[in-house]
Amino acid sequence: MTKLYISPYIFFLLKEGRTIVWNYKNHTQFELEEKYFNRLKELSCSGKIIIPETEEVDKDLIEANLVSLQPYEPFEWKWDELGQIYHVGTQDVHGGKEYSDEEFVSNYYEFCKEVTNQDEYQYVSYNGDQVTLPKPNIDKLDHSSVLNAIKLRMTSRSFNGEKVSIENFSTLLFANFGLLHGEWEELKQKNLKNLGIRRAHPSGGGLHPVEAYVLVFNVENIPAGIYHYNVKGHYLSKIAESCSYEKLKHTLCGQFFGDGISFGIFLVGHFDKVWDKYGHSRSYKDVYLDAGHVSQTFLLTATALELLTWETAWFKDSEVSSLLNINGISVAPLFFLGAGYGQRVSVPPKLHKLLQQTS
Ligand SMILES: Cc1cc2nc3c(=O)[nH]c(=O)nc-3n(C[C@H](O)[C@H](O)[C@H](O)COP(=O)(O)O)c2cc1C
Repeated sequence: MTKLYISPYIFFLLKEGRTIVWNYKNHTQFELEEKYFNRLKELSCSGKIIIPETEEVDKDLIEANLVSLQPYEPFEWKWDELGQIYHVGTQDVHGGKEYSDEEFVSNYYEFCKEVTNQDEYQYVSYNGDQVTLPKPNIDKLDHSSVLNAIKLRMTSRSFNGEKVSIENFSTLLFANFGLLHGEWEELKQKNLKNLGIRRAHPSGGGLHPVEAYVLVFNVENIPAGIYHYNVKGHYLSKIAESCSYEKLKHTLCGQFFGDGISFGIFLVGHFDKVWDKYGHSRSYKDVYLDAGHVSQTFLLTATALELLTWETAWFKDSEVSSLLNINGISVAPLFFLGAGYGQRVSVPPKLHKLLQQTS
């Protein structure tokens, strides 16, 4: 008697009348004839099946690594299948082949040539009304040590609506999203083609897919509204009319902690900047890693300028996308950063009171 086990790492895809089975651990895909599909369906009932001897159809399934004669190693995963498929399916995607240093560099060079269909970094730019920003005063960030900023940074949830100076606002946008380092001199000197840019935070391939979409509530000399920060030109382009605190709260799933912020920034991922170069969806993670880096730099620099900060990843994606006039697919919101003045408290008075009433 033989026992057969079905792989816990497969899912099925229906495409143009075909059934595709995708083994997301091994990164293989097969179009399935009905007999194979039916056999897998059968096996899925109990996870394993006892048969007198291995049949032809089973042999093929074993060879394709969709079925095994040994049980699969059990594992713990408490999120849904969707998360598991992405988690496992984006691991070990580079194959096991080892190259010499020379081969490695030559392969990478060829790869870059292949994926490059443009000569220059493509900056995101909008045509809306422009709001000029004053020259940033980067020296102001020199007044606080990194250690001091790290120690002082905290998530505050009580803001009073006070105005932020245009100098601080401009400095923060430039320091976090602008071309702080100027030209990429080293690449120029070494006569290497420059396909990326440098900003304050590191970014996979220098592609910098994370852009700032700014909600202005109370910033000196800037009309309340929603803007995109133009990285190259250091100016704002208007995207939409002002957003109320009520509307913000609604898009942030009822979180009232952003009431009274002076401005907020939705970090928006321009995935389309990445997928032409890095074709595997593993790179989706890199965009979020980029956003994490941007976020921390922003929080520290804002803290150094004595602003309070709040951040959230909990929002209604589609509503944020419609607020920012982005499509939500190739360009989608990742994270929200709020800044302003108020009380430096994790638990604001309103929340404290409500918690006391609840308990
Ligand atoms: C990825 C991420 C998501 C977060 N989401 C929320 C959120 O939805 N609402 C909120 O009030 N705070 C949110 N925060 C803030 C955390 O609650 C906060 O960082 C944590 O409580 C530690 O406090 P501290 O930042 O003051 O050190 C988030 C922070 C991160 C990094």
